[in-house]
Amino acid sequence: MTELRSARWLDTDSLRAFGHRSRLRQLGYGPSDYRGKPIIAIIDTGSDINPCHMHFRQRVEDVKRGVWQAGGFPLEMPAMSLAEAFQRPTSMLYRNMLSMEVEELLRSYPVDGAVLMGGCDKTTPGLVMGAVSAGLPCIFLPAGPMLRGNACGKVLASGTSVWKMWADRRAGLVGEEEMEAVERGVARSAGQCMTMGTASTMTAAVEALGLALPGSSSVPAVDSRHAQMASEVGRRSVAAVRDNLTPDKILTDAAFDNAVRVVAALGGSTNSVVHLVAMARRAGVSLDLTRFDRLCAEVPMLANIAPSGEYLMEDLFYAGGLRALMARLSELLELGALTVTGRTVGEEIAGATVYDDKVIRPLEDPLWPGGSLAVLRGTLAPDGAVIKQTAASRELLVHRGPAVVFRDYEDMERRVDEEGLEVTPASVLLLQRAGPVGGPGMPEWGQLPLPKKLLRAGVRDMVRISDARMSGTSFGTCVLHVAPESAVGGPLALVRDGDLVSLDVPGRRLDLEVPAEELARRRDTWAPGPPYYKRGWGKLYATTVRQANEGCDLDFLEYGPPTPEPPIH
Ligand code: FES
Repeated sequence: MTELRSARWLDTDSLRAFGHRSRLRQLGYGPSDYRGKPIIAIIDTGSDINPCHMHFRQRVEDVKRGVWQAGGFPLEMPAMSLAEAFQRPTSMLYRNMLSMEVEELLRSYPVDGAVLMGGCDKTTPGLVMGAVSAGLPCIFLPAGPMLRGNACGKVLASGTSVWKMWADRRAGLVGEEEMEAVERGVARSAGQCMTMGTASTMTAAVEALGLALPGSSSVPAVDSRHAQMASEVGRRSVAAVRDNLTPDKILTDAAFDNAVRVVAALGGSTNSVVHLVAMARRAGVSLDLTRFDRLCAEVPMLANIAPSGEYLMEDLFYAGGLRALMARLSELLELGALTVTGRTVGEEIAGATVYDDKVIRPLEDPLWPGGSLAVLRGTLAPDGAVIKQTAASRELLVHRGPAVVFRDYEDMERRVDEEGLEVTPASVLLLQRAGPVGGPGMPEWGQLPLPKKLLRAGVRDMVRISDARMSGTSFGTCVLHVAPESAVGGPLALVRDGDLVSLDVPGRRLDLEVPAEELARRRDTWAPGPPYYKRGWGKLYATTVRQANEGCDLDFLEYGPPTPEPPIH
């Protein structure tokens, strides 16, 4: 092992080092606790407002146990807790802020390595992006999915069951009693959403990248094996420092190829496109939408998990978990890629068994042949848009219809249920000003509500297009992440009611059938709206955020020359 970074704070004959040591004494620690031992920062994104992470208090203790056992010195460091269920306008507005906090925590303190504790949606990419930029050995500890929901004799899926129930309620089919039972029983334990939403997609993606222990992302949060896994994470974090296993050695092109392929096999969330692109750009790896689409297209969807399938994350765990799915996918993976264990992906998945073919389908009998996520381009989205075909209605994947345009979210809320709205099931609903700048923060508004009068008539899906994102637990024929977004003058800003829009997912096209001269005329009169935030983080975000196809990172945070270590004096 080379000299510990923390020794440059603690083991020198200087007044500053004396001060650091005396303050460690104040905390109750002496040299026998830390001298010559890797100091492991346990970055904890738990808080009283984050139910997905409410077991983290105990898990921090489990990690510490492992760190002590392996001869390290653990220090818990809380970081911003992005609780998806509560933050407005969207936790996505704060993903990059969390990443900055993590990067600077690791840089400014006497730390040799890190355990990154996250799981609730944006915490996972935020933690990894920050740790990658800090460049210290790190290992991700996934929160794990919550137990299956249950009410009225039915299994309930995070988000997915609620969206369905809400549409039925708007159609007048669900009563208050059932509503309350679902409210009580849909989320009934610690842990992240248990569908293949963004949380479970991203924790699996990070495991596939090699930054988490093999199999760890599938373990339910309240299973005793989760606590066992946490102490193993603690032990491994110390070894990763001793091996100098920095993220750049793990996060290679091959690692990102594996992550995208695993997401495709899981039928993962559209949000993974934005997050994986952002993480890759932090790591200096070129992952663009074209490569994403090509990799996805090669991979059959094997995981039969909601919202695209029938089962939930608990079932995936009992069926063998992600290791088993990756083993089944092994001929499509880069098996030589290194993981945080110091072993390769191939070594880590060897011998993993699928226990239930209904949950993890065989390669020759997939849920979807390839391309669960697809990237579209065309006159409406010159820089790309994304659709999750497996969660869409097959009969709408090729569709042409007149636009019904909503100028922003408030306009949509005001008018969508008006009886006089000129809309038919063949219409295409479009939402403007919902992108990274326009939202701001690119909220999950992409599953636009269907007009009540169509719901009452039995309609349950229509083509919907926006520059927003969509919850990974959602479903429907929703074209998302249109880039460039409307708030910066992308073609989406120029669409008017009645314009013909054509969607061709197999052909990967999204087009606005309006002559170029007419669009040029409309552009001459288009003006950006006033900024939502005039100060603070929101202003910094909106003035520096990249577009969706580039990962929505802030332009000054992407890969660049290394930041020097803070001066030690
Ligand atoms: Fe935390 Fe879904 S609300 S993962």
